[in-house]
Amino acid sequence: MKVLVTGAWGMLANDLAPVLSERGYEVFAPPEDMLDVTHLDTVRGVVDSYEPEMIVNCAAYTKVDEAEKEEHQALMVNGFGVQNLCLVCQERDIPLVHFSTDYVFDGTKEGPYTIDDEPNPLGAYGCSKLLGEKYMLGLLSKFYLIRTSWLFGHHGRNFIETMLELGQRQKKISVVADQRGCPTWTRHLAEAVVALIQTGRYGIYHITNSEPATWFDFAQEIFRLSRMDIELVPITSDQFPTPARRPLNSVLAPFPLPQLLGREMPSWREALQEYLQQRNAVKRAGV
Ligand SMILES: NC(=O)c1ccc[n+]([C@@H]2O[C@H](COP(=O)([O-])OP(=O)(O)OC[C@H]3O[C@@H](n4cnc5c(N)ncnc54)[C@H](OP(=O)(O)O)[C@@H]3O)[C@@H](O)[C@H]2O)c1
Repeated sequence: MKVLVTGAWGMLANDLAPVLSERGYEVFAPPEDMLDVTHLDTVRGVVDSYEPEMIVNCAAYTKVDEAEKEEHQALMVNGFGVQNLCLVCQERDIPLVHFSTDYVFDGTKEGPYTIDDEPNPLGAYGCSKLLGEKYMLGLLSKFYLIRTSWLFGHHGRNFIETMLELGQRQKKISVVADQRGCPTWTRHLAEAVVALIQTGRYGIYHITNSEPATWFDFAQEIFRLSRMDIELVPITSDQFPTPARRPLNSVLAPFPLPQLLGREMPSWREALQEYLQQRNAVKRAGV
């Protein structure tokens, strides 16, 4: 099956495209300058010439704090860009795989957010992602709308790299300990996404590594596994103000993915361990 992947240079696309190829899909992943999702004519042109049987949208505006000032740009990519892809998928009667975020929720719920909980984003990024969700639900019947959270991967800036860099420079680091979510490795997400699309069961899904954590828990495990002796200080979100407010609880409930695939996602601790092993192997090899 021919699959068009957008946002090819992003963190998730860099893991998803190879997993699709490994599973026998024929992947075309053009860079943003060839496929800007905010231009309907460009999207149509690429789809007309490549004739994919499915589109996987990894293109996104993902700068959560900058979005507060660049709301228009975030809406263009995460809202209207998704609308463009939906229109083209509708015209060709092909499915769209699209990613959304835990930040569509306000974080006031006690327990994990389920796929039928009502979104209520706190910031401009979450609002723009919610607009994309709305276009998808309104325009398409053949779709996989996948919410995920707290991504880390080898091909992008992420919390692990930020912590390890900080750990080289300081012995004491303050980390937010009152936000709960599910850290997720893009490689595990990519494998689950490909397994999901092989089922043909369209719908809304939550895909994250299992078990919740705070940023503090995550940092603790990063330094423990990296054998770095860092004094971590737990702080509240109020003590670490950012332009965009983040939900205090954005843990996503996995139902119905485990029932469908017959397995749970690996825990974020296992994911982190494997990520660090791969990272260190690459560093040792000097690649
Ligand atoms: N990262 C997370 O923690 C996280 C958490 C929850 C959900 N998600 C969602 O997961 C998906 C993948 O995220 P990611 O972390 O892989 O994001 P990413 O690394 O920022 O990748 C997104 C890619 O899309 C590109 N892009 C931006 N505007 C575009 C346009 N108009 N047309 C085509 N490409 C465009 C970006 O290019 P530039 O870099 O040049 O802008 C970037 O290469 C997104 O939908 C995101 O909202 C991410």
